[in-house]
Amino acid sequence: MSARLAAAPPPSVRVRAPGKVNLTLRVGPVSNDGYHPLATIFQAVSLFEEVTATQVAPGAGISLTVSGPQAEAVPTDESNLAWRAAALLAERTGLPADVGLHITKGVPVAGGMAGGSADAAAALVACDALWDAGVPRPELLELAAELGADVPFSLLGHTAVGTRRGDLLTPAMTRGEFHWCFGTQREGLSTPSVFRRFDELAGPSTPDVAPAADDTELMHALRAGDAVALGKALHNDLEAPALDLRPELAAVLDVAVSSGALGAVVSGSGPTVAALGRSRQHALVLGAAWTAADVVDAVWVASGPAPGTQIVTSVSR
Ligand code: C5P
Repeated sequence: MSARLAAAPPPSVRVRAPGKVNLTLRVGPVSNDGYHPLATIFQAVSLFEEVTATQVAPGAGISLTVSGPQAEAVPTDESNLAWRAAALLAERTGLPADVGLHITKGVPVAGGMAGGSADAAAALVACDALWDAGVPRPELLELAAELGADVPFSLLGHTAVGTRRGDLLTPAMTRGEFHWCFGTQREGLSTPSVFRRFDELAGPSTPDVAPAADDTELMHALRAGDAVALGKALHNDLEAPALDLRPELAAVLDVAVSSGALGAVVSGSGPTVAALGRSRQHALVLGAAWTAADVVDAVWVASGPAPGTQIVTSVSR
């Protein structure tokens, strides 16, 4: 073997997947399977997770490392959704589960922005390409839904209506770009505990009633690229339970609104708060107001809609 070939890097695939904000999130009463029926409008935003899948020796199994902001808060064992995504793809394709995964964080951890789901979506696409598995898109979306309710949307990206658990998706028409500022907290909120508090606050309710999706105004705002109307239509049924568990989030919403945000809402199950600005510059101003008021631990400025999971680079032998 020549020296040049011996030094060649192993085959690898680098994939990026976006985080999301729920523009609306309506939650129905818990079903027998422990999940809540949802009617939601997702928007992918320009905060990305990157997953690199690298070929390892046959029989080496799955390994995982993590870098980037809050990397220390992310598990590196089989409880990580990216690890589970690689294992699930191997199981379903019958291919050996041998891969080295590396995650570079770019989405706030445990913040209600689906960073873990983005890792799973990226790992599915990266391993599918590295192993040359050729799993058709509809099957990839099914595997994604098995991994978590938000994983299919991270594959799809842009803006979409989600029903069932949020995993049944219909793309939505949008015009232009919306400018967001996200205020995050060092301590995350667990999604199941926010849903549990939702149940406690709702009290006993009739099962099998899907949430009413009354998002006509918001859909109009998206189609018209009207940020003012979008800001007014933002809505999240999980905001009340998230505020109940974390009362200090009320101040984050207040500061955003008093600083001229077009709208402010808890993102997903929180504790991240999303504020909509008139422009990127205004989104930066909103972040500065949060920092000055000392109500968030970090601010992240991003725009939406952003594309779904995509291969960035691929190194083959
Ligand atoms: O699907 P995912 O793993 O992201 O969901 C985490 C948890 O959030 C679930 O185990 C469930 O307790 C709760 N959940 C829910 N209803 C949904 C989505 C999530 O109750 N539609």
